[in-house]
Amino acid sequence: MWAYSVACAWEVVVVTSWRIRDFHDDDLDMAIPLWGDPTTAGAAAAFGPSEIIAAIRAGQPAVVAFVGSELVGSAVAMVDRDHAWIMRISLAGSWRKQGVGSALLETLENRLVTQGVRRISCLFADSEEVGAAALEHRGFNVRQGLLLYEKVESVATSDIGILSEVGGRMLGSGLWEELGGMVREKELIERRVILPLANEELAGRVGLFPPRGIMLFGPPGTGKTSFAKGVASRLGWPFVELFPSRLAGESSAGLASALRETFGLVGELDQVVVFIDEVEEIASAREQRTLSAAHGVTNEMLKLIPSFREKDRRLLVCATNSVRAIDSAFLRHGRFDYVIPVGPPDPDARRAIWIRYLSSIPSDDIDLDLDAIVSASSLFTPADIEFAARRAAQAVFEEALLEKGAESATTELILNCIHDTRPTLSPRIIEEFQQDIEDFARV
Ligand SMILES: Nc1ncnc2c1ncn2[C@@H]1O[C@H](COP(=O)(O)OP(=O)(O)OP(=O)(O)O)[C@@H](O)[C@H]1O
Ligand SMILES: [Mg+2]
Repeated sequence: MWAYSVACAWEVVVVTSWRIRDFHDDDLDMAIPLWGDPTTAGAAAAFGPSEIIAAIRAGQPAVVAFVGSELVGSAVAMVDRDHAWIMRISLAGSWRKQGVGSALLETLENRLVTQGVRRISCLFADSEEVGAAALEHRGFNVRQGLLLYEKVESVATSDIGILSEVGGRMLGSGLWEELGGMVREKELIERRVILPLANEELAGRVGLFPPRGIMLFGPPGTGKTSFAKGVASRLGWPFVELFPSRLAGESSAGLASALRETFGLVGELDQVVVFIDEVEEIASAREQRTLSAAHGVTNEMLKLIPSFREKDRRLLVCATNSVRAIDSAFLRHGRFDYVIPVGPPDPDARRAIWIRYLSSIPSDDIDLDLDAIVSASSLFTPADIEFAARRAAQAVFEEALLEKGAESATTELILNCIHDTRPTLSPRIIEEFQQDIEDFARV
C-alpha cells in the first residue's frame, strides 16, 4: 500500500473526448464492474465495492467519466472535516494512459476543495497503477514508511445494538488456553464443538452438522461457565449470558415472555454463543419445578430451541449442577447435540491448575512439593484451588506487610491454606456425578 497526499491545488482541464460529471444513482450498474475487477481496481484495494457504494449512498463526493454513453472511469472520496480520503480511482482498460484518470482526480479535487477540504490522502495497493499515475500527475507525494494495520472485528455493526440490549459482549482471546488441565473435557469440547463450528464448510462437505446446542453438567465450580466462555473466545463469537433469575421479573409468565423476546433478538445476530447457567431453573422436571419454572416456562424453552437451531453460526450452551433435575424432554437429542460432563479435576488437572494459580506467588521453596499439594486437595474443584491459592497469596501479603517476613510462599503455607479451605466435593457428590454420567452423558 502507498499513501499519497497533496495540499489543495486547482487547475482547469480541457476535456476533449470524454466528459466528466458528478455521480448519479443511475451510474451504479456501469460503475460496479470497474470497482470489482481486480485488474482495474487492484486485488488488495483498501476499500471494497460495498464500502464504495455505501459512501456514494451517504452522499460522499464521486465523479464519473463518460465517453458517449459508456462509463469509462470513476473516482470516489470520503470526507472527514477538512481531510478527505480517495477511496478508489478506476478506469476501463482501453482508457488508461490518456489523461482520464488525472481529469477525474482534478474534478474530484475541485469538489473536495469547495467543501473545505485541505488535505487529501489516498491509500491503495501498489498494484493499482491507474490511481498511482493520476495521483503523481496531479502532484500527490508518496508518503514512505507508512504501514497499513488492519483488523476485521467479528461483530457486525448492526449486531452492536442488539448485543448491548441483551447484555452480550466480545470476550478476550486466550480464555480457552487459560483453562488449566481438564485435558479430557477440553479435547472433547474442542473436537465435538469448536472445530466443527470453526470449520463449517468442511463439516458440511462431509455431512457433519455442527452442534447448535450443548449441555454441560457437573458439580459447582468445576468450570462449566469457564468452558462456555472459552468456546466463545476460541470461536471469536460474541457471548450472551442469560440469567433466568434476572429475566424472571415478577412472575413465570414474565420469564416466558422475557425468554421469547431475548431469543428473538439473539436470533438476529450474525453469530453468537448464548449461555444459560443454572438451566434447571427454567427446565426442571415437572415434579421438581420451582415457582419460576412453572406455568409453561419449560414449554417456552422447548419451543424456542428449534428456531434457534435453524440458523448457522450459533451455539446454545446450557449448564447445570443438577442434570437429574432437568425435564427429560429438554435434554433430548435434537435439542442438545451433546450432554457433556465437566467433572472434578483428576490429579493431573489439579496439578496444572495449581501451577497456574501458584505461578503468580513467589516461592523460596524452589521445589514446592506439588505432589503433596495435589494429593491434599483431592476433593477440590478448580474454584476451590483458585480460592486456596488466593488464601496463600493473602497470607504471604500479610506476613510481608505486617511481620516484615519473606515475600514468598512455602509448601507448608500452601498445605495450611488447603487445610483451611472447605472442599466442594465429597465422596457422595463424586458418586452421584458418576451415576449422572451413566444416566445422562451423551458425547
Ligand atoms: N480448568 C480451570 N483452570 C483454571 N481455573 C479454572 C478452571 N476451571 C474453573 N476455573 C476457575 O474456577 C472458578 C469457577 O469456575 P466456573 O465458574 O467456570 O465453574 P462452574 O462450573 O460454572 O461453577 P457453578 O456450577 O458454580 O456455576 C472460576 O474462577 C474459574 O476461573
Ligand atoms: Mg457457572
